[in-house]
Amino acid sequence: MKSLFKCFVLLFCLHFIEGSQLFRCDYTYNSEVKGWLKHINIPANWYDARLRCTLEGAVLASPTSVKMRNEMVRFVNDSGNEESLYEIFTGIHATFAPGAYLTVEGKPLSKIPQVWASNEPDNKEDKESCLTLNSNGELADVSCGTTRPYVCYRSADSKTRTNECGTVDPEYRLDARTNSCYKFHTVPRNFSRAFFTCYAEGGYLAVINSETEATVLKELFGRYPAGNMQGTFLKHLAFIGFHDWGERWDFRSIHGQTLAETGKKQGNE
Ligand SMILES: *[C@@H]1O[C@H](CO)[C@@H](O)[C@H](O)[C@H]1NC(C)=O
Ligand SMILES: *[C@@H]1O[C@H](CO)[C@@H](O)[C@H](O)[C@H]1NC(C)=O
Repeated sequence: MKSLFKCFVLLFCLHFIEGSQLFRCDYTYNSEVKGWLKHINIPANWYDARLRCTLEGAVLASPTSVKMRNEMVRFVNDSGNEESLYEIFTGIHATFAPGAYLTVEGKPLSKIPQVWASNEPDNKEDKESCLTLNSNGELADVSCGTTRPYVCYRSADSKTRTNECGTVDPEYRLDARTNSCYKFHTVPRNFSRAFFTCYAEGGYLAVINSETEATVLKELFGRYPAGNMQGTFLKHLAFIGFHDWGERWDFRSIHGQTLAETGKKQGNE
């Protein structure tokens, strides 16, 4: 079932770097590349890798400069195992049109320092539209559906500032009544994708812990009338952080509490 969902965010800590710069603490500031990097060891397919970096307020990193390539190669050797062949995904892809390679930020491949691995690119079986980087700093084309580790990058030049919710996403707003931040998502996604989205944004699917919080969420939903949302889906329903965990009707919160237990929790969590 497709539906809307609300995210609740309670962002961890923040990094305070170079005066006014703040970003998520799961990222590390790197002065060589003038921005924050996060290495994700668990291999994902290219689409999920791109989405996760984007939702985190970053981009899927590409070796757009020699310095960036060096920093990425540093990660490659750590992430290698027999399956992933000492390669990571880059943000360079041709998923819009065959052979038209760009980074996820729109920089053409021709403007990027390129060294290809031997016999690459080969577009094997006409199915390879995403580029990887190996431990020698070489590029290769692979299927975007295959999985590799990857790096997310956020440039220190990014204009958006971290807000009171600890995120660069301005749609998250603090509600003083619960001292928590909320965002209403109007893009319809299934439960799994909704969970993933909130998680990547630094929050989680909202769990109702009090009457006050129920009111806060009701008011938030009320600000998004069906007529203002694009697409065809059930606009009067939204996902929240309860699930039956595969046991029919034994609903618990995504943090494992029964419905009664969540109700007992007061205010902010
Ligand atoms: C990474 O591994 C490759 C191949 O084993 C090696 O040639 C290279 O020097 C290593 N690079 C670093 C930074 O460890
Ligand atoms: C949820 O949506 C994603 C992305 O649209 C899709 O890949 C996945 O198969 C869906 N999961 C279920 C359980 O329908």
